[in-house]
Amino acid sequence: MAEVTEPAELSVVHELRRAVFVLEQGVSEAEEWDGLDGECRHWLAWAEDRAVGTARLRITGDVACVQRVAVAADWRRRGVGRALMAAVEDAARAAGCTRVQLGAQLTALAFYRRLGYSAHGPVFDDAGIPHRAMVKVWEAEL
Ligand SMILES: CC(C)(COP(=O)(O)OP(=O)(O)OC[C@H]1O[C@@H](n2cnc3c(N)ncnc32)[C@H](O)[C@@H]1OP(=O)(O)O)[C@@H](O)C(=O)NCCC(=O)NCCS
Repeated sequence: MAEVTEPAELSVVHELRRAVFVLEQGVSEAEEWDGLDGECRHWLAWAEDRAVGTARLRITGDVACVQRVAVAADWRRRGVGRALMAAVEDAARAAGCTRVQLGAQLTALAFYRRLGYSAHGPVFDDAGIPHRAMVKVWEAEL
């Protein structure tokens, strides 16, 4: 697991996101490349010399948003997503954020619930895929 530090690594992030979101899930290129990558921190999970997972973190004030969480299809259900989320949450905590929020595809709700996220509000459409808002609040606030 490593945070992306070299601009060149962003092309690896994009390759993985294109495979998962654009090719597998049918998200349009226009929606996938939303112009916010430059405002985000990015992570890559590596296994057997290849990138198998990615996520990005966007911080606004004390609120952290995790977005674009994607694991290569042949590496799912092996702990990569959990490790990615742990790395991103550690960074959010270190940055002084008090909560992490995200928009979860309905098919990923159970994944995020296992990691301590709670869903709230109605189902909404994003890029043609039904989502719900989820949040995880740090223990200090409970
Ligand atoms: C959702 C996704 C990121 C999960 O990554 P992953 O590497 O497969 O998840 P992990 O193996 O780390 O799973 C962590 C836990 O969640 C559970 N889990 C993972 N996916 C799940 C699913 N679809 N339904 C129910 N539980 C799930 C695992 O069983 C595991 O539980 P455990 O540790 O208690 O045994 C991955 O399936 C993915 O990239 N999907 C396509 C893109 C996508 O939908 N991204 C989310 C956008 S909101």
